[in-house]
Amino acid sequence: MSRSLANLFSQPSENIMSEIGKTAALMKNIINLSIGDPDMTTPAPILDAAKDSLTAGDTHYSASDGDPEYLKAIIDFYQNKFGIHYEMANVRATVGAGHATYLAFGAILNPGDEVIIFEPYFSPYKTEIEANGGKAVIVSCTAENSFQPTEAAIKAAISDKTKAILVNTPNNPTGAVYDQALLQTLADLAKEHDFYLIADEVYWPFVYGDHEFIPLEKLAPEHTLVAGSLSKVFAMTGFRIGYLAGPENVITAAGLLNEGITFSAPSTSQAAGTYALNHIDEFTPELQEEFGKRLNYVATELNKLPWLSILPVAGSIYLFADISGSGMDDVAFSNYLLEQVGVLVIPGRAFGAAGSGYVRIAVTQDMPTLEAAVNAFEKLTF
Ligand SMILES: Cc1ncc(COP(=O)(O)O)c(C=O)c1O
Repeated sequence: MSRSLANLFSQPSENIMSEIGKTAALMKNIINLSIGDPDMTTPAPILDAAKDSLTAGDTHYSASDGDPEYLKAIIDFYQNKFGIHYEMANVRATVGAGHATYLAFGAILNPGDEVIIFEPYFSPYKTEIEANGGKAVIVSCTAENSFQPTEAAIKAAISDKTKAILVNTPNNPTGAVYDQALLQTLADLAKEHDFYLIADEVYWPFVYGDHEFIPLEKLAPEHTLVAGSLSKVFAMTGFRIGYLAGPENVITAAGLLNEGITFSAPSTSQAAGTYALNHIDEFTPELQEEFGKRLNYVATELNKLPWLSILPVAGSIYLFADISGSGMDDVAFSNYLLEQVGVLVIPGRAFGAAGSGYVRIAVTQDMPTLEAAVNAFEKLTF
């Protein structure tokens, strides 16, 4: 057994997307609504900042915690946008938010520690928790409660091993935006039991209607670790740039862990990120408006179909559609949708059992493509 894999990876895990992905790869001209990657190219001035940094010969490692200009841009952004005060020692540059959550788990978890996650959830969380020796404790959310966890369910999941609760609002995949009362409950529970809140804020600007993004770090600053990202906010997914923010001792521990992982974040991406954060109001409102227009259009049109229903748009760049009225389960439905009319979506159970009966539709294509997708849905018969 000396060449065996880590226990975590020794059983082949079910990969719901793999079969459907293979079918999709063989088809031409499909409409791909499965990806969480904005279709827009990064705005030109941000690209120029990246090019300028390369031209100036900035092709070296940055300081391991991040280029001071980038860290300062994050600090200024939190101060100006949310009135939250961070010092340099409270922030570090990461290779996207995925890296930030991984470092956060690694910095705080001991074997057997529990992290509560709300299902449906962004699927990498569970592996990240387990790879860091923790145990994911699942709390299911339902459409009846707008895909927000109930206070009773959260309290029932808390044990003396609870080390953290992962909070992702606006939410991938459900589009839920957690309300003030829920966030206050989470903040109060974190203080009462002295556990962490890990706030995944990658979709923070994408809130619609009367929904508001309320940063958890404002309600429980000593208990909140923020996993932030420029990926969606500035259409910069390929730059792989984000940050981790929170109490100094956690940020220091994350730095120690990261010495042997990526050491630093890419210098070019930090230069681009500095420019982006320092000019946020020139870029993000446009993206916010565009995604809102798309979400509302697709939700309104698809809700006219008798076999499908979508909750009123709240936030993120996804719609989570209940397709149980089709008489099919979510995997069968997704295959049928692909094979009959060439539209690729993600079956809800890819985000955990609570997603069964739903599909996630990403509005990461332009309006003409989304119109074609709506027409395709309208052609389906059951
Ligand atoms: C909820 C959530 N968290 C984290 C990430 C990872 O983002 P990044 O590109 O910053 O690693 C994603 C990407 O889709 C996401 O949806």
